Amino acid sequence: MTTLEGVNVLITGGAGYIGSHVSRLLIESGHSVVSVDDFSTGLAERIGSESYELKLENPDAESKLASILNEHGIDTVIHFAARKQVGESVEKPELYYKSNIGGLLNLLSAMKTAGVKKMVFSSSAAVYGMPSVEQVDEQSPTNPINPYGQTKLIGEWMIDNAKTWGLSAISLRYFNVAGTGWSDLADKQALNLIPIAISKISHGEPVDVFGDDYQTEDGSCIRDYIHVMDLAKAHIDAISHLKNPGNEVFNVGTGEGSSVFEVLAELKKVSGIDFEMNIDSRRAGDPPKLVASASKIQDSFGWKSEFGLAEIVATAWESRES
Ligand SMILES: NC(=O)c1ccc[n+]([C@@H]2O[C@H](COP(=O)([O-])OP(=O)(O)OC[C@H]3O[C@@H](n4cnc5c(N)ncnc54)[C@H](O)[C@@H]3O)[C@@H](O)[C@H]2O)c1
Repeated sequence: MTTLEGVNVLITGGAGYIGSHVSRLLIESGHSVVSVDDFSTGLAERIGSESYELKLENPDAESKLASILNEHGIDTVIHFAARKQVGESVEKPELYYKSNIGGLLNLLSAMKTAGVKKMVFSSSAAVYGMPSVEQVDEQSPTNPINPYGQTKLIGEWMIDNAKTWGLSAISLRYFNVAGTGWSDLADKQALNLIPIAISKISHGEPVDVFGDDYQTEDGSCIRDYIHVMDLAKAHIDAISHLKNPGNEVFNVGTGEGSSVFEVLAELKKVSGIDFEMNIDSRRAGDPPKLVASASKIQDSFGWKSEFGLAEIVATAWESRES
């Protein structure tokens, strides 16, 4: 991890799973953090800094954010706050545009007013849609196939356009974030494979596998799982590389793919429970394989993931709710 001179950071979405990990890592490294969150999916007990309850898309949010930025002498913003459920975004696209785009617009306007010119943005592998290559790199075409992914790509564009007033930004395109760094900050929403499976096992229910007939080695979908602590460290590195106006994008993944069956086999090993699997049909919009090329971030920051699937599954299991 790069050594970073003291920074004053505003974290949006500091009560969330990833925001709270990054927040704690920054605080433990001696930096100052202030959080804003509307607690729509976040948990107040995760916040370890001064915080404000604020819905970013509200009409008064821009002026409130500008005051917070000024009052705390903020020099850098890390923007996590967003709605992130693909299915919900298809059902309620207007909610996603209002929240993810409207919220970002207010944030950027407040930053411009307050003269805050450094930003790290939580983007997503969802910007790539259904890639046909073995590994996606940052030059791969962006073609999001749902409103959630679209809001992330539009967000990257909005941030890039802010170079006209001097904004220097990095958008990190996260792949499948999982695992736990501190057990009190665990991912409590059962929305992704590992937390869903843990929740099912805890209730003695079978774990669903959506499709076992993909053109992959074992027939199930392959994803790139990245430990939340590796991801958190990438944010610290990103801040120290914010220099020139513009928005630079980086994949954050391990470069290794794991299939659904491999993840579940690891979970059986860690839990000691031989749970049942329920093979269901494919879900619409699931690419067979989504794996990052992680060379750019490694070459630019010297960042490399430390943890693999075993640590990801073990830390997620150990921090499960009893
Ligand atoms: N978890 C993943 O695998 C993953 C992958 C790619 C990208 N991301 C992105 O990373 C970011 C953080 O994700 P997470 O997994 O920690 O989710 P999370 O739901 O745990 O955290 C989001 C936080 O933002 C807050 N929030 C949401 N909308 C808000 C709004 N309009 N105003 C103020 N606060 C708001 C929520 O209350 C919550 O505390 C999101 O932008 C998400 O799209 C996550």
